[in-house]
Order: sequence, then structure tokens, then C-alpha cells
Amino acid sequence: MFEGKISLTGVKPTGTPHLGNLLGAFLPVVKMAQEAAKTYVFVADLHALNAVKERSAIRNNTYEVAATYLALGINMDKTVLFRQSDVPEVCYLTEILMNVTPKGLMNRAHAYKAVVEKNQAKGEDSDAGVNMGLYTYPILMAADILLYNSDVVPVGQDQKQHVEFARDIAGSFNYLYGDILRTPQPVIPADSAAIPGLDGRKMSKSYGNTIPIFASEKDLRKLVMKIITDSKTPEEPKDPEESTIYHIYNGIASAEKTEALKQRFLSGGMGYGEAKQILFEELNNLLKEPREKYEYLMNHKEEIDTVLADGAAKARIEAKKTLDKVLAAVL
Ligand code: ADP
Ligand code: TRP
Repeated sequence: MFEGKISLTGVKPTGTPHLGNLLGAFLPVVKMAQEAAKTYVFVADLHALNAVKERSAIRNNTYEVAATYLALGINMDKTVLFRQSDVPEVCYLTEILMNVTPKGLMNRAHAYKAVVEKNQAKGEDSDAGVNMGLYTYPILMAADILLYNSDVVPVGQDQKQHVEFARDIAGSFNYLYGDILRTPQPVIPADSAAIPGLDGRKMSKSYGNTIPIFASEKDLRKLVMKIITDSKTPEEPKDPEESTIYHIYNGIASAEKTEALKQRFLSGGMGYGEAKQILFEELNNLLKEPREKYEYLMNHKEEIDTVLADGAAKARIEAKKTLDKVLAAVL
């Protein structure tokens, strides 16, 4: 499906990557990178700035995101892995794109609208706490996407609107200046149902209910055992669709294993403790090897730096080509 395509995606370094990110973002991208002709993957540190003000947090999360891709074995023969801020051309393109982006488009952005609605519900000024980094976030993201001539942009459902904005912005630019920017398609992973967290809500850094992908074996077991369940006894039949344990298992185990667990839920005779043990073992088997690689890299950050520097050098070559074409058309 992605043969011959250029794919591109970014991840914000705003917290330690968790199982929701693994199933909704990292693994689908690793798979796509195997199929695509070329994949650009970057750590969107400039995008993190509107929310995170501690340099050390951004730095550390940047290493975590990069190490996660490397530990999961993304095909580095065809992947350019870099840090967004290492390609300053993206800021130049953003500035140019500002001038073909209607303000009204930004007013409709989900992330901005969500803050405005919260403010209004509290009776506060609509724009309270909104900085221009948040407001213009989609324009920087459009520049990310358009700079590298990507064909496909794998993202979670929540980011689809941003990719559509990038298409709109490219369309306005091309209408004025000629057919210069390639307009890519968003690709949402087929099974992009939200993975629930420890408390049953969507697993998210902002809810503090996450299981980090590379928690130590001991912590992984502890966290799995903490997943909340209802109070059904081991004998009672259970509805798998209602169970966080089942949903996470479904995301990582084979179809046959998932079906087997489903039957055990439905037929009764399995306590939640046993189900958690089954989930823990499956997770641990999947993550054991990558975890070792991840731990090694986090203890050898200079190796991550080398990969990122190499990625930035390659990305800049493409970025400069696009920016030169844009500037030649505009100024
Ligand atoms: P968080 O909600 O923890 O802040 P992000 O918004 O940074 O996560 O998400 C990064 C990527 O991971 C996005 O592509 C998003 O769709 C995916 N993702 C995040 N949480 C989940 C989840 N619980 N289930 C599936 N995918 C998720
Ligand atoms: N906004 C994305 C997120 O919050 C991260 C991101 C930044 C991105 N630039 C991108 C994703 C370009 C895809 C393409 O998850």
C-alpha cells in the first residue's frame, strides 16, 4: 500500500511514550517505514514549546522518543530520523505559509477550540492561556509536512484535521504561486481505537494513567496489576469489550491468542488476576528485547545524538530544495 511513497510523521516530546502511543503511533509507523520508499520521522520539539517550558524535559523526552523508534527497530536504511529544530528551514517556510493561511482556519483548529470552550465554560476570557504557539500550531505542522514532499502522513485520528489544514494551505499557496508544494494524504492506522489506561479512560499523559512502553519488567508487572477492573468473581463470565486488560491484549497479541482470551472472558472461570498475568507475559515478551536496546541507548545518548545529526543533515538537503523553490516563487 505504501510502496514507492514518501511518508512523514512527527511525535511531540511531551512525556514518556506509553502503550497508547506504541499501538496508535510507533508500531504503525515502524510498519509503514518497512513498506514506504522513504520515511521521515522527527521529534517535534518546536511544537512542544507551547506547552513545555523546561528545556531539560524537552531534551529528555526527545531522547526517549528517538530511542523508542530505534529500539523498536525502525528500518534505518530507509528512515530519516531527526529533531525538528535541527532543520531551521521549517521556521522560514512557516513564516511564508502564514501569509496564505486564513485566520479563520486557525479559529477552527480542534486543539485551540477546546481551550476556548473550556475558558468560556469557566466564564473566563476566550483566549486565556492561549499563546501564539498554540494558535499557529497547524501552520508549523503544515510546514513540517510540506517541506519534505511527503505523499502520506500517518497520524492518530486527533491529528487528521491538521493534515487536512496542511492540504488546504498547500492548495492556497499553489493557487497563487504555481504547483510547487505536494499535497499529501493523512493515513489513520486501521485499528486506531483508543487504548484505555489504568483507570479505564483513554490512556494519555494528561490523565496520568499510562503504562510507559519501556517500564522495567518489575514496574510493568506492577502497573498491569493496577489496571482497574469491576468486582466480578473469577467464576463469573465477563464482557471482554468492557475490559481494559482485553483491549490492551487485543492491541499486541495475535488474532488467535486474542480470540482465546476473549473466550476465557466469556465462559467464566478466569479471575482478573489471571487475565492480568496473561497480559503481562504477552507485553513482556514483546518488549523484552526492545527494552534492552532502549536502556542501552538511554545510557549512551551520544549514539542517539549521532543518529539525529545524521538525520538532520539528510533532512536539510530536502528542506532546502523545497524552501529554495518556494522563495524563488514568492520573493
Ligand atoms: P497523549 O494523549 O498521551 O498526550 P499524544 O497526543 O502525544 O498522546 O499522542 C501521540 C500519538 O499517539 C498520536 O498519534 C495519538 O493518536 C497516539 N495515541 C495517544 N494516546 C493513544 C491511545 N490511548 N490509544 C491509541 N493511540 C494513542
Ligand atoms: N502534532 C502532532 C501531534 O501532536 C505531532 C506533529 C508535528 C506531526 N508535526 C507533524 C505529525 C507533522 C505528523 C506530521 O501528535
